[in-house]
Amino acid sequence: MIEFDRVAKRFPDGTEAVREITLTVPSRRTTVLVGSSGSGKTTLLRMVNRMVEPSSGQVRIDDEDVATLNPVTLRRRIGYVLQGGGLLPHRRVLDNIVTVLRLNGVRRRSAEERGLELMDTVGLDRALARRYPGQLSGGQQQRVGVARALAVDPNILLMDEPFGAVDPIVRTDLQNELLRLQSTLDKTVLFVTHDIEEAFILGDQVVILKPGGVIAQQGTPAEILADPADDFVATFIGAERGQRALRVEDHNGTQVVVDGRGRPAGVLAEGVPRQ
Ligand SMILES: Nc1ncnc2c1ncn2[C@@H]1O[C@H](COP(=O)(O)OP(=O)(O)OP(=O)(O)O)[C@@H](O)[C@H]1O
Ligand SMILES: [Mg+2]
Repeated sequence: MIEFDRVAKRFPDGTEAVREITLTVPSRRTTVLVGSSGSGKTTLLRMVNRMVEPSSGQVRIDDEDVATLNPVTLRRRIGYVLQGGGLLPHRRVLDNIVTVLRLNGVRRRSAEERGLELMDTVGLDRALARRYPGQLSGGQQQRVGVARALAVDPNILLMDEPFGAVDPIVRTDLQNELLRLQSTLDKTVLFVTHDIEEAFILGDQVVILKPGGVIAQQGTPAEILADPADDFVATFIGAERGQRALRVEDHNGTQVVVDGRGRPAGVLAEGVPRQ
């Protein structure tokens, strides 16, 4: 469990990135931070592995104040997928994946064996192991980033817009892959995105941030959809425009569900038989 306890961040130039946030990120679940550009998502995420130190307040992992932990040790046991990939361009794919394992003292052979297994895990062809990041597609690079973050088998996975730079189809692929991975790996995932659709697909818990680093609402996707806390949230999730409002139309006896724009969303199944 990760706890943000009244954390705030004001950068030296006076920018108030996070105002005062208290938030619990439960273990073995996916929590998604979502909000527009500059709302403090990356700043909040980086407080967990001490790449940003809060100006006030405390971040705890399983009741331990991270400020008391060695930052280097901390970062080597937390998986971090950086915004924009953050792969080392002059290192081959496999070397990128196993860098932290090697830093942790794992011998080259076993590190590389583990690296190749991780390539399988994230759906990357092992034939790509000797390529450089620049020789991969955007989606493949994102997968390398995820494999690298998983390398030390961390309990916590921080993911900062990991699927930002790819087309919608690859993005859907990567999202499904993460859902599949999460059902077997059981990590505590803190995921950042500015895309509310992605937040609702991936998040067990969704936290919507407003400009200035303030929580507008937190809850399950269903709770937020059912009861947006204010106009900001309603606009952000598109509820106000009625795009998400569904209704049922009868087409020759089949119940077709259509969205606010009249586009079919699916067909209502027959009722579940009583026991
Ligand atoms: N090192 C820094 N010094 C000064 N201001 C900073 C620094 N890092 C971030 N900020 C500012 O803090 C605010 C929050 O930035 P942050 O990167 O956390 O936003 P974000 O929600 O991740 O945005 P994006 O969606 O664009 O990645 C922004 O106004 C940003 O300009
Ligand atoms: Mg960011």
